[in-house]
Amino acid sequence: MCGIVGAIAERNITAILVEGLKRLEYRGYDSAGVAVLSAAGDLQRRRRVGKVYELEQALASEPLTGSLGIAHTRWATHGAPSERNAHPHFSGEQLAVVHNGIIENHETLRERLKGLGYVFTSDTDTETIVHLLHHTLAECGGDLTAALKAAIPELHGAYGLAVISGSQPDRLLAARSGSPLVIGLGLGENFLASDQLALRQVTDRFMYLEEGDIAEIHRDSVQIWDASGAPVQRETVQYHDGAEAADKGEYRHFMLKEIHEQPKVVQRTLEGRLGNDHVLVQAFGPQAEALFAGVRNVQIVACGTSYHAGMVARYWLEELAGIPCQIEVASEFRYRKVVVQPDTLFVTISQSGETADTLAALRNAKQLGYLASLAICNVGTSSLVRESDLTLLTQAGPEIGVASTKAFTTQLVGLMLLTLALGRARGNLEATIEAELVEELRRLPTRLGEALAMDKIIEKVSELFAEKHHTLFLGRGAQYPVAMEGALKLKEISYIHAEAYPAGELKHGPLALVDADMPVVTVAPNNELLEKLKSNLQEVRARGGELIVFADTKAAMSNGEGTHVVNMPHIHDALAPVLYTLPLQLLSYHVAVLRGTDVDQPRNLAKSVTVE
Ligand code: F6R
Repeated sequence: MCGIVGAIAERNITAILVEGLKRLEYRGYDSAGVAVLSAAGDLQRRRRVGKVYELEQALASEPLTGSLGIAHTRWATHGAPSERNAHPHFSGEQLAVVHNGIIENHETLRERLKGLGYVFTSDTDTETIVHLLHHTLAECGGDLTAALKAAIPELHGAYGLAVISGSQPDRLLAARSGSPLVIGLGLGENFLASDQLALRQVTDRFMYLEEGDIAEIHRDSVQIWDASGAPVQRETVQYHDGAEAADKGEYRHFMLKEIHEQPKVVQRTLEGRLGNDHVLVQAFGPQAEALFAGVRNVQIVACGTSYHAGMVARYWLEELAGIPCQIEVASEFRYRKVVVQPDTLFVTISQSGETADTLAALRNAKQLGYLASLAICNVGTSSLVRESDLTLLTQAGPEIGVASTKAFTTQLVGLMLLTLALGRARGNLEATIEAELVEELRRLPTRLGEALAMDKIIEKVSELFAEKHHTLFLGRGAQYPVAMEGALKLKEISYIHAEAYPAGELKHGPLALVDADMPVVTVAPNNELLEKLKSNLQEVRARGGELIVFADTKAAMSNGEGTHVVNMPHIHDALAPVLYTLPLQLLSYHVAVLRGTDVDQPRNLAKSVTVE
């Protein structure tokens, strides 16, 4: 999604802005731009379609120098990716705006502003903001902050805004509603960004804006007003780690690095949350113990990979905790008339905590009479966390690769902790089973390390896919969502069409597709569904389909003609979804590398989907 960087300093800030944009590249975008106010008072911009590299080239041949500036990476929503649609947008020669989000009433505003004589040079909704601000500026006697405050109520939709003007070179303005913004605090200089990662090269102290906040940022001070217009202080957060996340280290891609981080981050997600033989329910917040005892149903809502984690959790919650569970994608849930069962815990799952549909679903749910809301999230400062009653933070650390990997497995770990905590609170989980699973959770990082050690074998298997256009992924029980996640990974980064089915559905339709050109990938832990799965695989082989089976060492499956078996370390069945995810991630990764796609920033995709 779009990214914002801004700076006000005494030194030249152009390189800081560009470096900030580079650090946001992982979010996905299709054009980039920067506007800088020179010491002589000229506001100038450079914009380019394509990568930040193109913008850098433009700046190399036509440099911009100044100590106040804003920059943006755009992911097209209104208007095609083009230079004239790229941000910053100007009104006149003195006013520039960059914007994340969507202005829903942009057509009405556009007509009104055209009536006032404004000429539009782009197809974007953002251009209405800058002209509206220009118009209000005149009405506010040239006071930029007053003009922003006056214009904001006229904007309907979602926005994170950064504004600068040649007429008030002492300030950088920001406004947040539905799209995150963070102020980076320096010494005699301050910064702004849509994600703190963009500013880690200049500071480790941050102040997060809240919904409805407007900020006036000077070189040596920051003033913030909340949604009601009252001056407020926002807490300063200092980071002491995490800077290494922006570095690929020895790995060729962030995705590969993040896949290999999984034993470590799963370990971190477990830390402080396990007692000797039970889950520490306080990990979900101080009210969790009292609340969980009254939970009779669970409703999970999420998008994409996080939705797949929720699907696994449904199997766990019903089987291990005896609690009925429903799950739905957020974009459907938010627009549906929902019948809420009494005593239902509303659970959202999100890596970023800023996904527009998931946030909107949470906000709707609050009006619907759920018992309480719980966010399982990777970003402690996110909107989702701030707006939920209870939180379990996954400790995956920043995830840079657009295709989610370590966020998914840490979500699964968080959801297993939830299952065990709820099962005990409801009296449905025997203490011996909880103790056994706690022990298995402790061993999980080691098992994951063993699975990753099979990388070379999986790389070899990936060659089978290099020339293929379609694949099927099969799984049964809690492995079905794992198959869905495997298929999503493959299509996201290798652009191969991949579909997942519960293996039992094969002969109800998809079997018609199977032939020698359609590899079928299967996950086969050693459980009571294994024999049924083996019959499904025979059905594939009988139609000439090539099989790739990730199987438990105890499953007694062996290589044969058209059957490639990769033996996986043995694991307790309940935790098999976590383990079996890893070879599917590695498989997608190696196929994408073979096909030469952009692994970390696949086409058309954005890391954090902050618009609908
Ligand atoms: C896929 C992927 C997406 C996200 C989805 C939700 O690899 O990353 O499907 O899972 O956009 O994002 P979060 O978890 O941030 O709410």
